[in-house]
Formats: sequence, structure tokens, C-alpha cells
Amino acid sequence: MMMASRGGAAKLASSMMLVSRSFSTAIARGTIGKEGVTAKAVGFHGDVVRKDISEFWIRSSVFGVRHRSTVSLGEKGQQQVNMKETQPAAEGGDKEEKKEVVSYWGVPPSRVTKEDGTEWKWNCFRPWETYSADLSIDLKKHHAPATFLDKMAYWTVKSLRWPTDLFFQRRYGCRAMMLETVAAVPGMVGGMLLHCKSLRRFEHSGGWIKALLEEAENERMHLMTFMEVAKPRWYERALVMVVQGVFFNAYFLGYLISPKFAHRMVGYLEEEAIHSYTEFLKELDKGNIKNVPAPAIAIDYWRMHPDATLRDVVEVVRADEAHHRDVNHFASDIHYQGRELKEAPAPVGYH
Ligand SMILES: [Fe+2]
Ligand SMILES: [Fe+2]
Repeated sequence: MMMASRGGAAKLASSMMLVSRSFSTAIARGTIGKEGVTAKAVGFHGDVVRKDISEFWIRSSVFGVRHRSTVSLGEKGQQQVNMKETQPAAEGGDKEEKKEVVSYWGVPPSRVTKEDGTEWKWNCFRPWETYSADLSIDLKKHHAPATFLDKMAYWTVKSLRWPTDLFFQRRYGCRAMMLETVAAVPGMVGGMLLHCKSLRRFEHSGGWIKALLEEAENERMHLMTFMEVAKPRWYERALVMVVQGVFFNAYFLGYLISPKFAHRMVGYLEEEAIHSYTEFLKELDKGNIKNVPAPAIAIDYWRMHPDATLRDVVEVVRADEAHHRDVNHFASDIHYQGRELKEAPAPVGYH
């Protein structure tokens, strides 16, 4: 009985695929070209059209979900549909394991391919979220602390550097990985608080929610990259849990009391991050750290050359930190001018 039921479910799944292919823009291939990310979609009459990937993605999702959901509901919500997940289930795309996902909700598994036709193996980010880092950014820019709050932010960051140097010494790979667990917090906290403020006040955010959440995601991708080259030990994992518990709450309170101070502090944290990655590069150049091949996730995320190395990765991450520095000092400056963030268009997509 169980076997028969599973077979029936598989038939239902395949018939749903056919329904979806007949009436929607179902066959889709996302590709990355030099000019940007485009997608091929087969339309109602079989003609191939090129669309901006974001537009395509919205269309594909809406059609796919609606058709399959309708069919599922038509079965009085009793049928379970087995859909084979053809992509790795975990965020790390290196593992080739295939996992069967059981669901009757009809949410289609996304299938995206690279330009060369090979399968896009990352679930944690998509081709249209990738970019080439702007390495021409000025790494030396510094906001000279002028006011009491600026000085407090500056010396708070400087004082945090002392125990960090003591703990990690010259283990820059490990240091980078651990610091990224902290660096990904402020954007999320700031974005969340602005999100709630937007809801409370019935007002737009000027794009700042998105800009800060983008920063948080970018920092988390730094972490996903560095954990490929440095594996945390048990006591380092424990330290991350403690530090996150303290830092999240401290930054949350700090942002509520003074966003001006909070953004300035992050600006200085980013200046320190630039310094740390510069030291990392020096150690790589001296040969004290092996310049291993770049992790696959980094090559896809920053659209790097297949032969890229760890040195190239550190360079693009450092460029990212310089962009975060600018965004946060800019945000603080807006508050210093007695304005609200929403009054200045947010630097969304600023990499
Ligand atoms: Fe970072
Ligand atoms: Fe950063």
C-alpha cells in the first residue's frame, strides 16, 4: 500500500510538471554573462526570450507556485507529493548528495544553470546576487573623530582590538572567520529596527532597510567563505555564541539609544577590518600563510577567475569592508546633520 501510494504521488508530481510546462514560462535557465545576468525563458509559443533575471525570477515563481498549489488543493489537501530535490539541500553546495523533499505545497524546486550549462550549485545565493568587487575603492579613507560620540565610538573599537590581537595573534584566517561572525550582526539589527520603525510610523525607509540587510548578507557570505579555509575549534564556537549573545544585545540597545553612534562605531569597525585584511595580505605575500586556491563559493559569489587564490579572496573581501565603512560613516553623518536616514537615498547594491 505504501509503495502504491508513493508511486501515485510520483505520477501526480510528474503530471503537475507537465501542467506547469504547458501553461507557464516553465523552462528557464539563468546565466551569467559579461554584460550581467540574464535568463532564457521559453514562452507560450515556444519562442525564446531574454529577460532581466530579476523580472524572470518573479514571473517563474508566481506561475510555478500558483499552478502547483492549485493542483494540490484540488486534491482536497490530502495528497502528498514527492518532489526530488536535485540541488544540495544544505547551503554548502559542494556536497553532491541528493535529498528527497516531501511536500504537498507545490513549491517548485528552483533550477538555475550557469552560462556553461552546468548546474548552479548554491542554494544560499543566486547568480543575480553575485558581483565583481570594486577594487579601486580608497582603502585609506578615515573619519577623524571630532565629537564626544565619535571619540567614544573610535575608542570602543580600538579597545576591542587589543583582546582580539591577543587571542588570534597572527592567525589571520581564523581571525577573519571569527570577526565575520560579529560583523554580520549590525546590518541585521539596524535593518530590523528600521523595518519596525517603518511599520510603526507608516512611512518609507528610503531603501535603508534593504541596504543594511544587504550588508548583513554580504558579511555572512564572508563567513561562509572563510569557514572553507579555517575550521573553527570547539572553544572558538563557544566563544562565538557568547560574543554574539553580548554583542547583539549591546548593539540593539546602542542603536535604539543613538543610531548616530551605532553607525559611527561600525564605520570604525570596518576601518579596523580593512587593516586586518591588509595584514592578512602581508602574511600571504611573505609566505607565512599558504596561498591556497580560492574556495568555490568565493569564485561564484565574486565572479572570480577559476584560478583565483586566497589572496584574491582577501582582496575582494577587503574592498567589501571599505564599502561598508563608507555606508556606515555616511549613515552616521546623516544623523549628525539632524536628518533621518530615509531623507537620503540608501546606497542599495553598493559593493
Ligand atoms: Fe566582512
Ligand atoms: Fe564589513
